[in-house]
Amino acid sequence: MIGNSVSRLFYQLICIGTALLGMTGCERSEPPVFRFNSVEWVKQEKTHLAEGEHFPEDYKAEIGTIMTALFGTPDDPTFPFFLGDEDPAHDVISIESLRMAAGPTRVDKRESATGLYREHCAHCHGITGNGAGDTAASLEPYPRDFRLGKFKFKSTPLRSPPTDHDLTEILVNGIPGSAMPSFRTLPEDQIQSLVEYVKYLTMRGQFERFLLGELAALDGEPLIDLSLVDKPDGGEPSEDDVEEFEDQMYAVIGEGLQERIIARWLKPERKVTKIEAAPPEFDIQHQAHRQFVQKGRELYFAKGNCMQCHGDTGIGDGQLNNFDDWTNDWIKSADVDTADPTSYADFSAVGALPPRPVKPRNLTHRYYRGGDHPDDLYLRLRNGIEGTPMPASTAMTSDEIWAVVAYVRAMPYLDSTRDESEKPVNEKQVMR
Ligand code: HEC
Ligand code: HEC
Repeated sequence: MIGNSVSRLFYQLICIGTALLGMTGCERSEPPVFRFNSVEWVKQEKTHLAEGEHFPEDYKAEIGTIMTALFGTPDDPTFPFFLGDEDPAHDVISIESLRMAAGPTRVDKRESATGLYREHCAHCHGITGNGAGDTAASLEPYPRDFRLGKFKFKSTPLRSPPTDHDLTEILVNGIPGSAMPSFRTLPEDQIQSLVEYVKYLTMRGQFERFLLGELAALDGEPLIDLSLVDKPDGGEPSEDDVEEFEDQMYAVIGEGLQERIIARWLKPERKVTKIEAAPPEFDIQHQAHRQFVQKGRELYFAKGNCMQCHGDTGIGDGQLNNFDDWTNDWIKSADVDTADPTSYADFSAVGALPPRPVKPRNLTHRYYRGGDHPDDLYLRLRNGIEGTPMPASTAMTSDEIWAVVAYVRAMPYLDSTRDESEKPVNEKQVMR
């Protein structure tokens, strides 16, 4: 995909990026900037360098320049459409829609809004989408850091991005039992624009993490060496220099950005998990429903191994000292003792929020963050909850999953210390 014209285009972008950085680097009244992922930087240092050693500081500016060239700024976002109008990335991001969410909050003369993300989301998720907005530290769970590219509540399997529809559902419904509010009252085009913006911040963050992951292997060499093609004497670069520059471009932009990141966000709808129809016994009116719930209960303890985390009675008192992937991502890279803040002081100093264990859900309360429709629960069991210890039940047949869903839905109404076949299911439990 990367040819000569693309590298020239990138070179131009880099120059614009440098100019933009120069502009924003000076005054107090400067517009908000995307924050560098310093936690990842410290993590990479601790993973690859000896104690007390550091990467050259120059890399920060270099990464900043590349990021600005490809993704623009919070006030003026762009997206790397290297192939112009033909670029398949247009199916991933609509730049017009994205711009509605970007920038400072205001309503222009034509009454169309911009700055939606800053108005509605940034105080929790941060301008950068790093999950560290002003209110983040006081929330449990913490707001999502989009930069890992992981989403919990979606119709696609682990390691697949969510569909636009999944993200829309999250914005419309919020996440019950967390601080994530519902934005049901916003018009559809505004929701769509916020969805685009979440994808944008996610891919941006994924790419920055990719760049940081490359640093250790560079051995002090630049990530992209512009001096290969931009000769100080203004002379023409040699063929070898151009070739070398294109190789670097390919590694960073072609493989790193296009193949690893953007291509994976192309049409996630293709990956959506098929939900097999529930058997008739799933219906609460069905004469065999009680036995079906009982079968679910057995699976909960045997094949599903659910009690390991959710506990025998479902109150979520099983395995308690697990962390989610957003936390494991950095605590596992160093000798972090989560009970001892001095052991992660280097991370706290650059903005990492204190590690907190992820709690298995209390299943007796009848609220589910990913939605309470039976299909939602089916998806949670079949695919697990990405980024958390909640595993995908790959070994269960779909009828078995439905039986466990029936049991989970009955749990709030059951005395789970007893054998359920003896006890009627409360009729208040409605079937949808
Ligand atoms: C008051 C704080 C708060 C605000 C405001 C907020 N969020 Fe969230 N958001 C959260 C929290 C907390 C979570 C994590 C919930 C969890 O992990 O279960 C979250 C999670 C998410 C997720 C991840 C869903 C998933 O499946 O993993 C998305 C996407 C998201 N928010 C988008 C937004 C957008 C877009 C806005 C603005 C329109 C917004 N949020 C406003 C707190 C907030
Ligand atoms: C290794 C630990 C572990 C096991 C095993 C496990 N879970 Fe979970 N489960 C979790 C955690 C942790 C969460 C909370 C994830 C989050 O949202 O952060 C969770 C969440 C859930 C939810 C809430 C979904 C929602 O939308 O809020 C349900 C329902 C659930 N689990 C059911 C089950 C069932 C049924 C099984 C057995 C088939 C099971 N879990 C096995 C750890 C586990």
